[in-house]
Amino acid sequence: MKLDVSSILITESQIQERIRELGAQISKDYEAGNLMLLCVLKGAIVFFADLIRCISIPLRCEFIQLASYNDGTEPSQIRAIQGLSGNLNHADVLIIEDIVDTGHTLNFLVDYVKRLKPESVKVCSLLDKPSRRQVSVTIDYVGFEIPNAFVVGYGLDYAQQYRNLPYIAILNPV
Ligand code: IMP
Repeated sequence: MKLDVSSILITESQIQERIRELGAQISKDYEAGNLMLLCVLKGAIVFFADLIRCISIPLRCEFIQLASYNDGTEPSQIRAIQGLSGNLNHADVLIIEDIVDTGHTLNFLVDYVKRLKPESVKVCSLLDKPSRRQVSVTIDYVGFEIPNAFVVGYGLDYAQQYRNLPYIAILNPV
């Protein structure tokens, strides 16, 4: 199957501008807190790397890897394949996601983090596809709301490809 990613949905400069806004807002909101950013591997890595450099207050970085997709576009079971080590006491955890689609992954993750008894848990997602939602989840910081399309680039993949694109594109099988 040939793939066409020519349709750019969000440009590199739009992404960078929005990340600067999110970083400023997060810096303000967590000024008096104990911020810990939790990067959801692998899709959020590019967003995470840019976002932390737009946050001006002290922060800790942690990483978690979930298995939810099997090289395709249909969701499967969710589980942590690389979990959190260490104590979350007093941490204000901000989960950094690439995209919220059905909401199942985020629903699992918020429960997982809450069980580790942090001070607070909030969510920041670069993209939100609300039309696909199956479970209700709260996203405290949203980069962009997008229509119901499968997107790649800026960390998001299809079969582990396209993560290196500096923009978000709609993937069209041709
Ligand atoms: P959810 O559990 O359905 O909300 O799916 C969340 C995860 O599915 C994301 O973290 C992505 O890894 C993946 N995903 C959902 N939609 C897309 C997409 O359009 N492109 C790439 N990955 C996606």
